[in-house]
Amino acid sequence: MVRRCSAAAGVCWTLLMGCVFAANAVTFEVKDGNSTCIKADLNASFSITYSTANGTRVAEFVLPSSARVGNTSSCGGREVPPELLVSFGDGHALGLVFSSDGKLYRVANMSLQYNLSDTSTFPQSSSSGLETVMRNVSEISARMNSTYRCLSSTTVSLSAGVNITFSDVRMEAYMNGANLSKDESVCSADLPVTTAAPTQTPRTTAAPSPVPPPAPERGNYTLVNNNGTACLLALMGLQLNVTHHSKSLNKTVSEVMNLQPNKTTASGSCGVTLATLVLTEELTNLTFTFTLNSTSKKFYLSAVNISAFWPDMTDRFAEGNGSLNLLQCSAGRSYMCSAEQTLAVLPTFSINTFKLQLQPFNVTANRFSAAEECRVDQENMLIPIIVGVALAGLVLIVLIAYLIGRKRTHAGYQTI
Ligand SMILES: *[C@@H]1O[C@H](CO)[C@@H](O)[C@H](O)[C@H]1NC(C)=O
Ligand SMILES: *[C@@H]1O[C@H](CO)[C@@H](O)[C@H](O)[C@H]1NC(C)=O
Ligand SMILES: *[C@@H]1O[C@H](CO)[C@@H](O)[C@H](O)[C@H]1NC(C)=O
Ligand SMILES: *[C@@H]1O[C@H](CO)[C@@H](O)[C@H](O)[C@H]1NC(C)=O
Ligand SMILES: *[C@@H]1O[C@H](CO)[C@@H](O)[C@H](O)[C@H]1NC(C)=O
Ligand SMILES: *[C@@H]1O[C@H](CO)[C@@H](O)[C@H](O)[C@H]1NC(C)=O
Ligand SMILES: *[C@@H]1O[C@H](CO)[C@@H](O)[C@H](O)[C@H]1NC(C)=O
Ligand SMILES: *[C@@H]1O[C@H](CO)[C@@H](O)[C@H](O)[C@H]1NC(C)=O
Ligand SMILES: *[C@@H]1O[C@H](CO)[C@@H](O)[C@H](O)[C@H]1NC(C)=O
Ligand SMILES: *[C@@H]1O[C@H](CO)[C@@H](O)[C@H](O)[C@H]1NC(C)=O
Ligand SMILES: *[C@@H]1O[C@H](CO)[C@@H](O)[C@H](O)[C@H]1NC(C)=O
Ligand SMILES: *[C@@H]1O[C@H](CO)[C@@H](O)[C@H](O)[C@H]1NC(C)=O
Repeated sequence: MVRRCSAAAGVCWTLLMGCVFAANAVTFEVKDGNSTCIKADLNASFSITYSTANGTRVAEFVLPSSARVGNTSSCGGREVPPELLVSFGDGHALGLVFSSDGKLYRVANMSLQYNLSDTSTFPQSSSSGLETVMRNVSEISARMNSTYRCLSSTTVSLSAGVNITFSDVRMEAYMNGANLSKDESVCSADLPVTTAAPTQTPRTTAAPSPVPPPAPERGNYTLVNNNGTACLLALMGLQLNVTHHSKSLNKTVSEVMNLQPNKTTASGSCGVTLATLVLTEELTNLTFTFTLNSTSKKFYLSAVNISAFWPDMTDRFAEGNGSLNLLQCSAGRSYMCSAEQTLAVLPTFSINTFKLQLQPFNVTANRFSAAEECRVDQENMLIPIIVGVALAGLVLIVLIAYLIGRKRTHAGYQTI
């Protein structure tokens, strides 16, 4: 266990940092005295968009084997989370801050500092100096006293222009011994794709019903940042429509399923230009990614991923689309659509939304900002207006006809 810091002494850790080299992954170790608290074997490659005089360019480079543990790394203590900071090259640094709830530990925040003055990495960069991007992440988590293992490549977007791809990762924080635990928490990308029949408990809606289910209940999905303030708000009813091979019918069917808010948990992350909302139900994982375009000052739903293994499915349905541009709305506003709307994610997967209002960026005071309504709502509002205008026009015509008629009859009487 990590020793507690005596409150008065402030920073009182004597850190002994080491670094050894494995075949291709680089190993980093953070120690407090003789006891190791973080150990990480990892490969990382970086992809960073930067500006030059004639447009933007992308710098791509890998974490060099000369990378070392920086001296702001720490095992943490009361109110200070453990942190691994890896320094490399000419002023670049990758930071991982860990957190734990006693059962699981996770990388809670990831940061990258890069030095645009490093002209060999960023040739002809129009700006110079250090840039830092960071984001709360949720992708990397493991059971306490186990090693997080992810041999597959996984990409973490820290901002719209900065991606980090990890591979061959073996990592543990809150360690008890000097070596990585034998027990491993394997990331989902490394899990074999099972084709065996699912062993989940049967659901009431076993076979796909030909009649569409009723409109789904509206869920209240809120993400809260470290401050305790809401950073992503979503109120919506969701109906998933998945085309898959039915086990009971032995043919391809479109199965429609309502997400039940009281069985769904929301998680995710809030960033300055990227936010994710992960909705987890017993047999369904659904991820929404929102992107803020700081040039156009608009945000939109940029990606949707689903992993579902419903009782009538022959295989797990794990699909997604990362190049969407749906639910577009001005930054600082919330997007609202009371009418039913269909989000076409893939030919085999769509989502029907009901009574939707959401805001993934610039949430203040735990409340939705002014809403921008979807076109359908605006048109629905237009219909009563059009009918009203038409009625008013009709009344006017009748009135004019009456007045003209009256004038004519007056004239008639006068001639007599
Ligand atoms: C670290 O270990 C060495 C030998 O293994 C021992 O002599 C030393 O006292 C230990 N230091 C601490 C702070 O435990
Ligand atoms: C960018 O401009 C510089 C000079 O202004 C020129 O030398 C260079 O070739 C240009 N690069 C590209 C990719 O056009
Ligand atoms: C982790 O291991 C330590 C020491 O063996 C033990 O005290 C602790 O309860 C374990 N934690 C969990 C969540 O298993
Ligand atoms: C980062 O990843 C996203 C999604 O995978 C991709 O659209 C974007 O082009 C990448 N950016 C860079 C700078 O590689
Ligand atoms: C949604 O939930 C939050 C707390 O989780 C609550 O403060 C808020 O009032 C709820 N909104 C609605 C419309 O129920
Ligand atoms: C914490 O809240 C303050 C305002 O209440 C805000 O300025 C700050 O960015 C928040 N910090 C985080 C990490 O969200
Ligand atoms: C589900 O998707 C299928 C295929 O795209 C479509 O024919 C069907 O109308 C959809 N059902 C609902 C309720 O959206
Ligand atoms: C499912 O249908 C295919 C042809 O459509 C057939 O070859 C196969 O035997 C059927 N499987 C079962 C279990 O009925
Ligand atoms: C969830 O809500 C449904 C419908 O309101 C209700 O029938 C069910 O009992 C609720 N389940 C739980 C676990 O609260
Ligand atoms: C942001 O919006 C601008 C203006 O609409 C557009 O030119 C640019 O391609 C957008 N950027 C991204 C990353 O979508
Ligand atoms: C949902 O995600 C969790 C955690 O990653 C995983 O254990 C579970 O198998 C996933 N469920 C489905 C249906 O993919
Ligand atoms: C949204 O927040 C970002 C920083 O978090 C800020 O730069 C931007 O001006 C805000 N936009 C609006 C429209 O409030």
